[in-house]
Order: sequence, then C-alpha cells, then structure tokens
Amino acid sequence: MSDERDEQRIVVGATGASGLPLLVQCLRIIREADGFRSCLIMSHGARTTLAWETGLGVDEVRALADEWYEPEEIGAGPASGSYRTAGMIVVPCSMKTLAGIHSGYAETLLLRAADVTIKEQRPLVLCARESPLSPIHLRNMQELSMIPGVRICPPMLTFYGNASTIEDMTYDVAARLLMPFGIEAPRYHRWNGLGE
Ligand SMILES: Cc1cc2nc3c(=O)[nH]c(=O)nc-3n(C[C@H](O)[C@H](O)[C@H](O)COP(=O)(O)O)c2cc1C
Repeated sequence: MSDERDEQRIVVGATGASGLPLLVQCLRIIREADGFRSCLIMSHGARTTLAWETGLGVDEVRALADEWYEPEEIGAGPASGSYRTAGMIVVPCSMKTLAGIHSGYAETLLLRAADVTIKEQRPLVLCARESPLSPIHLRNMQELSMIPGVRICPPMLTFYGNASTIEDMTYDVAARLLMPFGIEAPRYHRWNGLGE
C-alpha cells in the first residue's frame, strides 16, 4: 500500500481555456504512473468547458484525481509551501489565469498554488491556450518563461509521431506536458532520430 509521503504529488490546476480532454488524459497518466499522485483544483471556468468538450461531469473528473479542492478553499494544503509537492501543471491554462499567475494575484487556491510553486522554485508547467495571441498574452508568457522552473507549453500538435486519431494526439501532448516531473507515459514514443 502506498503512503502519500513516499509519492510525488503533482498539483493539477484546470481552467476555462479550451483543452479539457488534455486535463483528463494528464490525470489518467498520473494515475497509472508508479509513485505519483494528483491533487486537482478546477476553476469555475473549467467546469463550463469540461461539459462542452468532454461530456464528463465534474465528479467523474475528480474521481480520476487522488485528492481535489474547490478554488475557494484558500486554506487547503496547496496554499502553503510546506505542503509536499513535486510541482504543478495548469492544463489547460486560460489567459486570465496566466495573467493572474504573472501578476502574483493569488485570489483563488489555484492561483495561490501556482504562486507557491514559483516561490518554492518547483516546476510549473503552463499549458497556455488561446489563438491568436495578443501582445498582452505573449508578454505574460515571455516574462513567466524567464522564471526558473516555469515552462510555457501550449498544446501544439505534432505530426511526425504518426498519430492517427485526435485521442492519440491528445495522449502525446499530455505525455510531453508531464515529462518535467519524470513521468514516462507508457504509450508515448520518444524520438530517437530518423531511421535509416
Ligand atoms: C467554450 C469556451 C472556450 C474558451 N476557450 C478559451 C481559450 O482557449 N483560452 C482562454 O484564455 N479563454 C477561453 N475561454 C474563456 C475563459 O473560460 C474565461 O476567460 C474564464 O473567465 C477563465 O477563467 P479561469 O481561468 O478562472 O478558468 C473559453 C470560454 C468558453 C466558454
């Protein structure tokens, strides 16, 4: 039986940008990864897009996580640097939440957890999604990317992996988002150079 002190806890934030299937896939990969557990915080915006994009209910997604909190629970564990985590991923990350993280406006538990992740110098992966990107979005991303540990990872498709379905592409993007935490998604094939 695993003990949470022996496992690496990843805080998983989800916001109201398009890309909720990526959240679901990330939670599934973390669930299958030995030695990792997830701590989910969904914004209210994410609940709206979740229904549109996946047809899943909030409870079904929460069931994929090891623990979850409401965004209003500002006194919950992820609000403190003393809470053990391996870092945080925000998937998908809206431009509103990106701006909140950029400015240190830690109004919700999700924003506070990201603020804590930065101050504790832990990995913070932001799957920022909008199109087209305005100068404000690009400035926020550029400045956040300069902070050690922060990675801006928009959900970009790759075609060289020969994924044939949207599910395969979603899996590949999710797998890459989780690499900074040392998770090897079992169905992801790393590039080993062009074959003969
Ligand atoms: C169907 C739908 C798709 C959306 N897609 C995006 C998006 O891709 N990027 C974005 O920044 N906002 C998007 N939004 C707007 C955000 O949901 C909205 O700005 C929200 O206030 C974000 O709040 P949150 O970051 O607290 O979840 C979308 C909204 C809806 C209803």
